[in-house]
Amino acid sequence: MTGAATSTTSTIEWANPAPEDVPAMVTASPGPASQMWNARMERHTAGSVTQMVKLHPVAYESGHGVTLTDVDGNRYLDFSSGIVITNIGHAHPRVAEAIGRAAAELDNVHDFATPAKVRALEALDDVTPPGMSLFTFFSSGTEAIEAAMRVARAITGRFGFVSFHNDYHGRTGGAASVTAARSSNALRDAGSYLVPSGHAYRCTFCAGSCDLRCATFVGDSVAQNLPGQLAGAVIELMTNGNGATTYRDGYVAEVARQVRAAGGVVIADEVATGFGRTGSWFASDHEGIVPDVMALGKGMGNGFPVTAIAVRDEHAAALAASFPSTSYGGNPMACAAVCAVLDVMRAEDLVGHCAELGRRALAQMTEMAERHPIIGEVRGRGALLAIELVKDRSTKEPFVEAGNFVYRAAFRRGLAWATAGHILRITPPIVMSFELMAKGLDIIEESIAEAEAHFGM
Ligand SMILES: Cc1ncc(COP(=O)(O)O)c(C=O)c1O
Repeated sequence: MTGAATSTTSTIEWANPAPEDVPAMVTASPGPASQMWNARMERHTAGSVTQMVKLHPVAYESGHGVTLTDVDGNRYLDFSSGIVITNIGHAHPRVAEAIGRAAAELDNVHDFATPAKVRALEALDDVTPPGMSLFTFFSSGTEAIEAAMRVARAITGRFGFVSFHNDYHGRTGGAASVTAARSSNALRDAGSYLVPSGHAYRCTFCAGSCDLRCATFVGDSVAQNLPGQLAGAVIELMTNGNGATTYRDGYVAEVARQVRAAGGVVIADEVATGFGRTGSWFASDHEGIVPDVMALGKGMGNGFPVTAIAVRDEHAAALAASFPSTSYGGNPMACAAVCAVLDVMRAEDLVGHCAELGRRALAQMTEMAERHPIIGEVRGRGALLAIELVKDRSTKEPFVEAGNFVYRAAFRRGLAWATAGHILRITPPIVMSFELMAKGLDIIEESIAEAEAHFGM
């Protein structure tokens, strides 16, 4: 097996300890050493970290597969993957070896060709949709979004973008302009504006019967706001930061149709959803669309900062005209990481494993929802899942205090994970075993029961 973690062990065997061995807590969490390292970090960062760190300030020392060990020696089950990054587990031997070898051979030759870069380009071509075989490498998801927007402007000769409430694309000029200000804390460029998305649970367009007005609204709105000026739409096909938001069947395809009818191109932000995370290579596979440009990141380097755009072949001239080179994009270590990750994933069919992991998890979460009235919705695909907590199922009022409570209670029990207020985010490495996924969900259920008792529900 060429992609195995070692010559004798598959990635899933290597990544997953026996369920009785994790979590293993030796101090309260966060323990004294975690608190000390966080205090020293705070001195130089002024608390400019996410709410997740503020709520439960752990400091980590090491990771192995689907586990993380903190500086106090507590071993956690990883339900976050470093915010949807370490898809095939922490410290994968094949990836570590590939990066180390590349570092010992050649650091950087800007955008000259190297065998590593060509192999990484060809590996990407093997997994992206047919007819989408043009790529440029970058170092962050935000950079890839910016580049995708430049390509869309080069294709259309237009400037404007439409994007969607609750999607997140990054914090620099263009990316922040297509992100809700509440998430990016930035003003947007003139010509970029947002519309409500058709989030199935919280759709603002219809109650009950659905005629996909949420999707046709995009065309009407472009006609009002950017007539003849639309370069494209930037869309998360399932949200990451907003907790695995899913849409009604046909929504994404209809949005794509509306955008193209208005002369724009479709940019799929697959920074989080790409590389197997949703149980398919890309979330666009589920939607039956081929975007014009995809922004890729996170899982493609499994932690090494490497991202890319994928562009349809017919847009070759626009890609060249957008002049996308960077200092670090496509460096030998980055490309070695991409090749190792894709080799392992394909050889062991980890995408297929992730699809089944998600089916089983969603079944367990659905049963959990029947037992707990605080749960408004469970949702997601593959290893991009979420539980939304509400004060009342009929009003769907978000229960942020309960979300924070459950987040901390599960962390204390040894679940390292992520939250967004009332939305609990479940994004383990895609290689997690079915048994450990079930165990992590049990920990969440115990913590939800504790919250219900605490808030008198
Ligand atoms: C969907 C999506 N797009 C873009 C980004 C930005 O990527 P980065 O943080 O690597 O710049 C993120 C980051 O979380 C994301 O989830």
